[in-house]
Amino acid sequence: MYTELIKIVEGGLEKDIKKVSSFARLLAEKLAIDGEEKMSKVILNLLDKKKSLGTVNLDELATTPMDQESRMNIVDLILPEAESEQIVLDKITENKISDFVNSVNHKKALIKAGIKTNNSLLLYGVPGGGKTSIAKLISQKTQLPLVTARLDAIVSSLLGNTSKNIRKIFDYADRKPCILFLDEFDAIAKARDDQYELGELKRVINSLLQNIDAFSENNILIAATNHPELLDKAIWRRFNTVIEIGKPSEEEISSLINVFLKEFKNDLFEDKKRSEKLVKLMVGKTPADIKSILNNAMTHVIIHNKKELVYEDLLIELFEFENHGSTSNEKLVEYLNINGIAQANIAEKLNVSIRQVRNVLSKEI
Ligand SMILES: Nc1ncnc2c1ncn2[C@@H]1O[C@H](COP(=O)(O)OP(=O)(O)OP(=O)(O)O)[C@@H](O)[C@H]1O
Ligand SMILES: [Mg+2]
Repeated sequence: MYTELIKIVEGGLEKDIKKVSSFARLLAEKLAIDGEEKMSKVILNLLDKKKSLGTVNLDELATTPMDQESRMNIVDLILPEAESEQIVLDKITENKISDFVNSVNHKKALIKAGIKTNNSLLLYGVPGGGKTSIAKLISQKTQLPLVTARLDAIVSSLLGNTSKNIRKIFDYADRKPCILFLDEFDAIAKARDDQYELGELKRVINSLLQNIDAFSENNILIAATNHPELLDKAIWRRFNTVIEIGKPSEEEISSLINVFLKEFKNDLFEDKKRSEKLVKLMVGKTPADIKSILNNAMTHVIIHNKKELVYEDLLIELFEFENHGSTSNEKLVEYLNINGIAQANIAEKLNVSIRQVRNVLSKEI
């Protein structure tokens, strides 16, 4: 019994990084003694990778700021992962992100050479397009912790506190090299429709802009929004890199399916015609949609003890996703038929007789 495990869990829940790392190190030592060298090495490697941020280095960030009224944390501290999840992007976006990461990583050299850099990035696009994932990817590539502040949560608090909260967030993020990630950035503009008095709101926006100016000279700022149309020019101007995250192309959809399926056994790519069809049916969906459809389909395979994920099952999930589960069996029969599933196969999948399938389809004609 490794009691260290309990301490590590405790440390994690208490966000006590020191506790987690010291008990993880103890655990690694014990595992090595017990002959579990491989596992011990994995743990030690992980600890080493995080060392640059270090147990001591992060102390300044250990206590996250709170809203005075609600006593809720107003930021979330996420340490950079050793490896990030695989993200599928188009070439242009990929290059822009890699330029951004490079300029962060060469910041010292750039400043030394007298080149003023302003590392601020605005990501905008559809929900589920990958904005938060990109912020995490940048945190991983720069090995800088990600300090996430959700502006919607902050603005919804009393406006008097909003300015104070904004100040607190920037002060906090100023303590150590990190990436400040302002999520739901449009919340600040949306507040205009709310109950607040215009003058007060203007003051809040001004205080945000001033903070951004002062901050991004020395630090890294990323903002994300689903509503770029709500942001005014004064805000756009402050970001030197702006990236629109669009919906994935057919090629990207194909890669996303592969990434999300990982090693899961499936027949989706056995038949070229079918796999092309599948990709076409996914056009217009976001990566998050595609992930959710595939997750549902894989869950179905596992809980029904099936051998592999087959094309028909994925079509059913796709149909249910599009219709939010509220539709008739008839419509599903038609959908499967249109997408090339044989009548006998439809009957088997939906647990009905072939005659019923034929009836539905003949009504259609
Ligand atoms: N380009 C992508 N490649 C791989 N996975 C992605 C991609 N975009 C999104 N995902 C997956 O979809 C999920 C949702 O993405 P994410 O939270 O990054 O989107 P978002 O743009 O921040 O959405 P929101 O506007 O709702 O905050 C994530 O779990 C991620 O795994
Ligand atoms: Mg997000």
